[in-house]
Amino acid sequence: MKKELTLNFDYFTAAAELSDIEKTLFEKAKTAREKAYAPYSDFFVGCAVLLENGEIICGNNQENAAFPSGLCAERTAVFYIGANFPEQKIKKIFIVGGPRIFSEKTPAIPPCGACRQSLMEYETKQHENIEVYFSNLKEEIYKVNAVKDLLPFYFDSTFL
Ligand code: THU
Repeated sequence: MKKELTLNFDYFTAAAELSDIEKTLFEKAKTAREKAYAPYSDFFVGCAVLLENGEIICGNNQENAAFPSGLCAERTAVFYIGANFPEQKIKKIFIVGGPRIFSEKTPAIPPCGACRQSLMEYETKQHENIEVYFSNLKEEIYKVNAVKDLLPFYFDSTFL
């Protein structure tokens, strides 16, 4: 028996198409990206996370001379939120990543697999979807309605 999964997502071609809060998250993700510590990969990623109470928490990738000790932007942000705002639901995360110098061809960078899994943990915990946006500097913006959309057949605590 063949089955099929369908992914619905939004695609914008300019930040002007976004709502005010989405525009703010995009701007904050870009600013956070500029502060990334990525001397080894020269690949700079920033993100801005909107909490239920309206607060916006930013993160960026933090690398390390012992490479695996570093951490992606998304996990830097959501682990900080988990540590400091454990009761707050996460509404949206906006990610902007790419080489330090963007080219015309730099695509929008989606979150890596480990970050999807980590984001999925919070989506499961809060029983509410987290909207995920990712964009390049050319404002080619993707939006999915939930982390689970980026991680079909996800593993979570319900299997334990
Ligand atoms: N990186 C992120 O911060 N987020 C992702 O989802 C993909 C990768 C970082 C990790 C590393 O510092 C650099 O980008 C190159 O992989």
